[in-house]
Amino acid sequence: MEKFRLGIIGLGCRGRSMTGLLAEREDCNITAICDEYADRCDSMKAKLAEHGHDPAIYLDYEKLIAAPEVDVVFVFSAWENHVPAVVASMKAGKPVAFEVGGAYTIEDCVLLCETYRETGTPAMMLENCCYGRVEQTLYAMKNADVFGELIHVCGGYHHDLREEVSMGLENRHYRHRNYRSRNCENYPTHELGPLNVLLGIGHGNRFVRLSAFASKSAGLDTYIKNHPDRDQTYADGKWAQGDVVTTILTTSEGQTVRLSLDTTLPRPYSRGLEIHGTKGWFSQDNMSVYTDENNVEADHFKWKNFWGNYSEYEEKHMPKLWRDYLDAGVKKGHGGMDFLVLDAFLSAVRDGSPMPIDIYDAAIMMAVTPLSELSIKMGNAPVEFPDFTEGIEDRETAEGKYKLF
Ligand SMILES: NC(=O)c1ccc[n+]([C@@H]2O[C@H](COP(=O)([O-])OP(=O)(O)OC[C@H]3O[C@@H](n4cnc5c(N)ncnc54)[C@H](O)[C@@H]3O)[C@@H](O)[C@H]2O)c1
Repeated sequence: MEKFRLGIIGLGCRGRSMTGLLAEREDCNITAICDEYADRCDSMKAKLAEHGHDPAIYLDYEKLIAAPEVDVVFVFSAWENHVPAVVASMKAGKPVAFEVGGAYTIEDCVLLCETYRETGTPAMMLENCCYGRVEQTLYAMKNADVFGELIHVCGGYHHDLREEVSMGLENRHYRHRNYRSRNCENYPTHELGPLNVLLGIGHGNRFVRLSAFASKSAGLDTYIKNHPDRDQTYADGKWAQGDVVTTILTTSEGQTVRLSLDTTLPRPYSRGLEIHGTKGWFSQDNMSVYTDENNVEADHFKWKNFWGNYSEYEEKHMPKLWRDYLDAGVKKGHGGMDFLVLDAFLSAVRDGSPMPIDIYDAAIMMAVTPLSELSIKMGNAPVEFPDFTEGIEDRETAEGKYKLF
């Protein structure tokens, strides 16, 4: 089998784990790696040698993208580098896969789409949660009409990141500077990717407008004060990022979507998916399904007896992709979905088929960040949502292309 010659940009936490998965693949030869920090390049090179890879090292991502030994680019770097690296890769005609994160400006989202239209170079956002076991089963349940017409959906990035953010300078982590300077829905894609699939956003349905609401910021200050080993200069009341940001979007088909970002207060991890349809309801936080058929005894108090009943639905509806994956042995990385998203990208590149999560899907998700920032700045005012597809209203039927599932 001819091997992909991979160039990898960004060798922090995520870059290390995803490169580990790529290094084990028989169809990949990692020929170049890049990070701003030379020590991260050196340690990755040593690690890759254990798997028989001998990559060239670049400290400048543009040089890696231009390198003749690179055919396919992976971008695992900090949020600020995503758009420049993806645009440069598309211009160089090298298929590119990039990590999740919001954009900084709407112009950047437009630039991604324009560059794709100019170059035709495949680019995919590696939104791994689109391949999660629960998410994939929910798509199948929706297709089997368990929920009826979808009316309102919710999701969130609920992850206690106080240690990661407050230790950002010591660990050279990008979230520190972002939380100091921006107040927005900074990480919408883990929940929005799957919700967009459920709603067909960008494929006939589209977002019309959005309003965002930010609470005050107190979580990081309190946390730092309670941890004397942390740099106390940052318990200064000057974190820009509100502790909880709630964003409401409306769609052209009349649905509402509620997103929440909750990363600087104590709480357990959850993506908090919720589906409200004309026939049924699902909540990820207690893994329960409530439908017109199963709710007979589900009054106010007895309903708790049904919590966890999602497993019955999973048994019936889990799609073949996940059944086969469980049989074959799930690989490490966020419950297995990291392998699936990498595999989806590389398979599409090999087959020359459309990207499962293409540049328009990415632009729509990434745009929530600057739009929410604007709405918050304007006192929660509604902000119009641009149509990045430029009139390609239904890419699925127009091109027969959309093939995530
Ligand atoms: N999909 C997931 O489940 C998941 C999980 C964790 C992180 N992520 C995403 O992965 C990305 C990286 O996150 P992380 O936690 O590894 O961050 P990190 O700060 O640990 O690593 C980012 C790396 O990118 C490098 N970098 C930044 N700008 C660069 C540039 N211009 N050129 C070369 N290298 C550059 C940094 O030096 C750093 O080593 C983010 O987009 C994050 O949102 C996704």
